[in-house]
Amino acid sequence: MLKIENLNKSFGGIKAVDNCSFEIKEKTITALIGPNGSGKTTIFNLVSGILKSDSGKIIFSASGGDGKDITDKSIEDISNLGISRLFQQTRLFNNLTVRENLLLAIDNEDTKFLSAFVPQYRGTSADKRNKFEEKIQEMLELVGLSAQGGSASGGAKFQNVLARDLSYGQKRLIELSRAILNPHNFLMLDEPVSGVAPRLREKIKEILIVLKEKGETILLIEHDMNFAFKISDDVVVLEKGRVIAQGKPEEIKNNPRVLEAYLGN
Ligand SMILES: Nc1ncnc2c1ncn2[C@@H]1O[C@H](COP(=O)(O)OP(=O)(O)O)[C@@H](O)[C@H]1O
Ligand SMILES: [Mg+2]
Repeated sequence: MLKIENLNKSFGGIKAVDNCSFEIKEKTITALIGPNGSGKTTIFNLVSGILKSDSGKIIFSASGGDGKDITDKSIEDISNLGISRLFQQTRLFNNLTVRENLLLAIDNEDTKFLSAFVPQYRGTSADKRNKFEEKIQEMLELVGLSAQGGSASGGAKFQNVLARDLSYGQKRLIELSRAILNPHNFLMLDEPVSGVAPRLREKIKEILIVLKEKGETILLIEHDMNFAFKISDDVVVLEKGRVIAQGKPEEIKNNPRVLEAYLGN
């Protein structure tokens, strides 16, 4: 699905990504792990077109199609190929509701109009409006937030709760919904559970497994080795921009080089 070949990216004197090569198979979860500053987010930024590489190649093939060279293509071109992403930093609009935050993420020709007029979105046909609302309900059910909100929201329906009243873990769930609500082929998640309380971490883990069973291909950045080992089919370990190990979780778990990279950090 995604093939990275000899990828390089420096910032001034720092080699953030140092001759990285690895491959992601369709319908699997691959974890990209490594200490802080090892280059994980930079790889995401290169794949999604936010950064230009210094050299190397990124080849993407959607569901059995031919490989397409997407190195240094624009953010828009890459997103149009169906590469979707959840960012490490939270990006919800705090003063909008859950429903409005999801509506704004829907990708369609009325998006500009929608952005200007949420919550009313007058002018959009009733048919389309119904489809959008259905999509939102489907997402909220998938992440288990379709019922009433917690006490912080005074028991309001979840979709009407303001983003700023959500717990951090609930915010991550809404962001995950934003990343998956449009049609896509490949999902990249940058630390979806970091900072999230244990109960919700477990829930996010279950949701990701359900997504994989539905046929999603997921590349997951994770700082926590144990979480990554539990959920992934394949693991790629970075240290100082270099791939120091890759393989099945069982193979990586006891790799002395990997343990040293973590313990030394
Ligand atoms: N935009 C940038 N400008 C300068 N240095 C950067 C930039 N982005 C990342 N870096 C540096 O590149 C290295 C890798 O960072 P990053 O990819 O964010 O690591 P990770 O996600 O693994 O924690 C770090 O040393 C970081 O300080
Ligand atoms: Mg990062």
